[in-house]
Amino acid sequence: MAEVEQNIAALLSEERVFEPPADFAAGAIVRDRSPYERAEADLEGFWAEQAERLTWFRKWDAVMDWDPPWVKWFEGGTLNASYNCLDRHVEAGGGDKIAYYWEGEPGERRAITYGELLDEVCRCANALKSLGVERGDRVAIYLGMIPELPIAMLACARIGAPHSVVFGGFSAESLRDRIIDAEAKVLVTQDGGYRRGSEVPLKANADEALKECPSIEHVVTVRRSGGEHPFTPGRDHWYHELIAEQPPECEPQEMDAEDILYLLYTSGTTGSPKGIVHTTGGYLTGVAATHRMIFDIHDDDIFWCSADIGWVTGHSYIVYGPLANHTTGVIYEGAPDWPDRDRLWEIVERYKVTILYTAPTAIRAFMRWGTEYPEKHELSSLRLLGTVGEPINPEAWIWYWKFIGRKRCPVVDTWWQTETGMILITPLPGITRLKPGSATFPFPGVHAEVLDDQGNPVPPGGGGYLVLTHPWPAMLRTIWGDPDRYVTTYFGKYGPNIYLAGDGAKRDEDGYFWLLGRIDDVMNVAGHRLSTYEIESALVDNSKVAEAAVVSRPDELVGEAIVAFVTLKSSYEGTDGVAAELREHVANKIGKIARPHGIIFTTDLPKTRSGKIMRRLLRDVARGRPLGDVTTLANAEIVEQIHEMVDSGTGEE
Ligand code: WTA
Repeated sequence: MAEVEQNIAALLSEERVFEPPADFAAGAIVRDRSPYERAEADLEGFWAEQAERLTWFRKWDAVMDWDPPWVKWFEGGTLNASYNCLDRHVEAGGGDKIAYYWEGEPGERRAITYGELLDEVCRCANALKSLGVERGDRVAIYLGMIPELPIAMLACARIGAPHSVVFGGFSAESLRDRIIDAEAKVLVTQDGGYRRGSEVPLKANADEALKECPSIEHVVTVRRSGGEHPFTPGRDHWYHELIAEQPPECEPQEMDAEDILYLLYTSGTTGSPKGIVHTTGGYLTGVAATHRMIFDIHDDDIFWCSADIGWVTGHSYIVYGPLANHTTGVIYEGAPDWPDRDRLWEIVERYKVTILYTAPTAIRAFMRWGTEYPEKHELSSLRLLGTVGEPINPEAWIWYWKFIGRKRCPVVDTWWQTETGMILITPLPGITRLKPGSATFPFPGVHAEVLDDQGNPVPPGGGGYLVLTHPWPAMLRTIWGDPDRYVTTYFGKYGPNIYLAGDGAKRDEDGYFWLLGRIDDVMNVAGHRLSTYEIESALVDNSKVAEAAVVSRPDELVGEAIVAFVTLKSSYEGTDGVAAELREHVANKIGKIARPHGIIFTTDLPKTRSGKIMRRLLRDVARGRPLGDVTTLANAEIVEQIHEMVDSGTGEE
């Protein structure tokens, strides 16, 4: 048996290249390499120029102060995020522009202008103040995708109270843990939300959580579903009653650049959720600059990021980035397959969406459902597509480009994390030659590298650990209440100067970055460290496959044997013949070493609530181990089904 490789083998090679369409390139915000050159020549100068696009009450004294691993950006500068997102546009005469088109799952529609948003944010900010919320107090927000969610966030930003948004799909326990950790003083929630036609009992969950949250003094409930729920006098307030008494003006607090804007909890594979801390000046600079250049934002664009605001993607690219850039956005409350599987395409058509930003997990679901749904709709308004959240398999990229973008729209595959706050590796759509499956290059002013276990750069073509070797303005500043964990998690491997992302990556001969998935998912087959992503991409490359997840189980012969869980497109059935075909397909595409030993057909794969495939659970299933914690799963029932199939021997060779 060969010696165990220290680095991750890189097997997949993707030859297709897509040039920016000429008409797109001609009108793009970034038309040449000058931002890269500018950042190369003077990194701090580049970021200072981006910061100057915001409105500051007081200009900073220093652009960056790096005391590894602690960083400060724009120290001495003061600003307010809600002022930058709202007031300055209204003051410049842009109050009538639509900030959001909102659509409820049952079908209600609202268009909210910047002027209206400012009024409502001020009312909400005054309401929070009336409940005793002061600068520095934490406010927990547990809402579905309704306008009051960005309103509450901006109201907190206005008065300098860090918000901690908890995704509306999380359980009472998840909410409780996050409230306790942040010691939040007030909770903003809603009676019930809508998801696939049924009501999500947010207030009931909140009441359950609050049994153990002594820090909460007041609960503000938005009325959405009209459902019944108990009211605790003195603690509980209706949102509409509170704001009715409030004036639509509220002076924005003058915040220091390094004051906390928000906490956002991210659950790793192990340990308790981490409260990621984002501050004001650097974060807003980073999200506004990336939003504008990567999504090529023009004044008349209709930008739709279909993520939930409860995730960082929504914080940065539904709320702070787009509003700072005075963009019109879309917010949709519900499920993409309600009432039918063309809901998103209906929305794109209705609002003439020009830029769509979504996740590979959604794209794979669209692939599984079939092309008839997008084909029913006029999607010609689209001019740019984006993806985030997981490595996108090249075939999913091509599908997106072909059936949604109709071969006209560049696809920006954007790599980043809750911790990074802003997109870090990405094409710039007017100038970057795209390779499907590659996030391409670091954004100007971002320094990324691929290192081996010892910290040496990995030569082109090889896999290793993705790191960032220079701070960027929107990076996390610490983990709330646990600075040691910040140091060990992100700077424990290579020392305080080098941020470890926790993802595997390779660079190809042209310098393109290819993300290979989380380091924890890497497998060791016959002495080779294989990334799950490449084998999964080879499976998805077969025209019958919509989605695949690959894990390993111990094997006497090869160390670890590869087991593939595969979901086929809706018109195919998982027969032994198809399993054999897929095994051969992988062997031909990337080599015999990667040929799965077993193929298990499933109707779905276990996913986190943000849509990422949970390979850890599949690993337990494949190894016949008792199942670990499934509470963070979006679709827990599927694990049981898969478990039963494996027990009865389906699909194994
Ligand atoms: C993964 C989401 C490959 C990656 C903004 C990262 C990606 C984690 C990509 C962060 C991409 C995100 N290509 N992998 N374009 N984008 N990831 O914190 O593993 O929810 O570390 O932030 O998602 O997920 P998070």
